[in-house]
Amino acid sequence: MAFKPANNIQDLQYFGEFGGVNPSISDSSTYTFLSAKTMFDTFEGNADGCYLYSRHSTPSNLYLGQALAAMEGTQTANVTASGMGAITSVLMQLCGAGDHIVSSHTIYGGTYAFLKNFTPRFNIETSFVDILKLDMVEAAITPKTKVLYCESVSNPLLEVADIAGLAKLAKKHNLKLVVDNTFSPLSISPAQLGADVVIHSLTKFINGSSDTVGGVICGTQEFIDDLRNVNDGACMLLGPTMDSLRAASILKNLRTLHIRMQQHSLNAMYLSQRFEKDGLKTVYPGLASHPSHDLFKTMMNKKYGFGGMLTLDVGSLEKANALMELMQKRNLGYLAVSLGFYKTLFSAPGSSTSSEIPENEQKAMGLSDGLIRFSIGLDADIERTYAMMKECMKELKILE
Ligand SMILES: Cc1ncc(COP(=O)(O)O)c(C=O)c1O
Repeated sequence: MAFKPANNIQDLQYFGEFGGVNPSISDSSTYTFLSAKTMFDTFEGNADGCYLYSRHSTPSNLYLGQALAAMEGTQTANVTASGMGAITSVLMQLCGAGDHIVSSHTIYGGTYAFLKNFTPRFNIETSFVDILKLDMVEAAITPKTKVLYCESVSNPLLEVADIAGLAKLAKKHNLKLVVDNTFSPLSISPAQLGADVVIHSLTKFINGSSDTVGGVICGTQEFIDDLRNVNDGACMLLGPTMDSLRAASILKNLRTLHIRMQQHSLNAMYLSQRFEKDGLKTVYPGLASHPSHDLFKTMMNKKYGFGGMLTLDVGSLEKANALMELMQKRNLGYLAVSLGFYKTLFSAPGSSTSSEIPENEQKAMGLSDGLIRFSIGLDADIERTYAMMKECMKELKILE
């Protein structure tokens, strides 16, 4: 039977303390116990349903975690204060001194910087590979490898990982496949394709209003319990804890994610088709010209389309900057990093979100100077948006 992530979210029913239609927010950092014995058992991890201290868990965080686990079809989930809080906790939990990670080389700049500059301090080494080439991925695996890491749709180049193929490799070599699914919520469900751990930056599409950072780790009950363990759990000990007020607001936004993703995808598809026809170098997984278009089609939950992210190469950084400034002036969106907002956001990744990646490596992976990354908004009239964007491009001689 087809996996239906939005139905899974819809079917969750939470009542508030006084019969409210939204669950009550737990506005406390610590919790009382009627008996000292229950407090001891809770520390030991043996008292289900008891709350101890809000760095460990809170009712509001558990509601949001449950909803995101339902969305990804995993046993459970743990929410974190940011996407990086999720990524770093997972990798520090799975790897120790002497271990090795095989990661895609086209990943979010912060994750890249963490693996390249930070984890080596703990003697954890990473090999960066072209994730599209499964033979090269396998060749990079050593007896010390513990984790295969990738993004389902990569930031910013929009490469699409063959998650089922990578899961097979992970199983064969007894590794954990960790997938960052930030760019493709609802469209792709990595755990259904064999991923062991699925991560999101909630900051992006899932929250959708660019008013907070947040993250989530979806996985087995055993792994999430490990992360929360008071003795050696990365989420408990590193402290990337989401605030309950935020968990409550993100949960409300999650309830409209399916409608938003459909509109983001519809608008991004329209613009990418038109700009490709106009002769601009356009990358969007929904275009037949995208190298992984067919692969995406085999993985996707069809209703939600190919996502809201596209890139256009306008030839040079100067032209890219001029276009972004003009588009912002004409109220077509914001010159800002991040994604998943209701208005369009655009940035030149080479000099912003991927600036942690050295220039020569950017070139090698195909990240050109003139590349603009667009997170397409929820515009009600995308034909009008297209006409206005085209006008900007004509004025700047990017298009005839
Ligand atoms: C794919 C991806 N993963 C993770 C992150 C990090 O998330 P956060 O900014 O919420 O820490 C980002 C942020 O841009 C991202 O694009």
